[in-house]
Amino acid sequence: MSRRLLIAGNWKMNLDSRGAAALARSVRHEVVQRKLDRDVLLAPPYPYLETVARVLEGTPIRLAGQDLSRHESGAFTGEVSAGMLIDLGCHGVIVGHSERREHGGDSDDTVRAKLERAIRSGLDAILCVGESESVRESGARESMAFVEGQLKAALANLSEEECAGALTVAYEPVWAIGTGRTASTSDAAAMHAHLRAVVANRYSEQLASRLRILYGGSVNADNAVDILGASEIDGVLVGGASLNMESFGTIYRAGAA
Ligand code: PGA
Repeated sequence: MSRRLLIAGNWKMNLDSRGAAALARSVRHEVVQRKLDRDVLLAPPYPYLETVARVLEGTPIRLAGQDLSRHESGAFTGEVSAGMLIDLGCHGVIVGHSERREHGGDSDDTVRAKLERAIRSGLDAILCVGESESVRESGARESMAFVEGQLKAALANLSEEECAGALTVAYEPVWAIGTGRTASTSDAAAMHAHLRAVVANRYSEQLASRLRILYGGSVNADNAVDILGASEIDGVLVGGASLNMESFGTIYRAGAA
């Protein structure tokens, strides 16, 4: 089954409103001109969602939040709900990014609740999983077991129908994020194949074969062709290199016919 590639840019806590609008316009120009057979998604900081939504209106580029609250609404100062993201034009949301797990204290249970909230509210979700450096050092099998545990915990209560079409998984080894180090393409592909088998076991072959599994962690203009060329890798979640149109444009075009 061939899965359409997704090129996703996670802007993290960068840019200002002008910079966000300018970058979104550049991405729009590139995507609208080239019309490549791949999807593009941008995840700006919350305050710039509306600005970016306006720039992307009428284009196939999807807008996503970088996180969401596990709660529907109420006295949760500083939090942003799924409904608010949808209201601002988001189609999706990133859930369980390692920076939320590390700095925001998101446990596996919080990630599960956020994923359920996102999908049950009608958002597509990019669920991030990935092992730390110490887990990776303990071996490939240990890393697979660890990431499998994160994936199963997040999917514990979701049905196949809920996941179909709404779930994307991003394998992001923590030690590769923002470090300039990437997993080797063969290691990443092996992890992706393992995660796909976990989903096939938990749900069905059909869901597993349709599920997009992205790779993230120091993806850049130089390594994108190699990463996107692996058949198990269905796209990339790009942090640093998505902030610059030269590198993000190169990644978007990488390996395209
Ligand atoms: P990076 O970030 O590309 O800067 O390593 C990836 C991510 O955190 O999604």
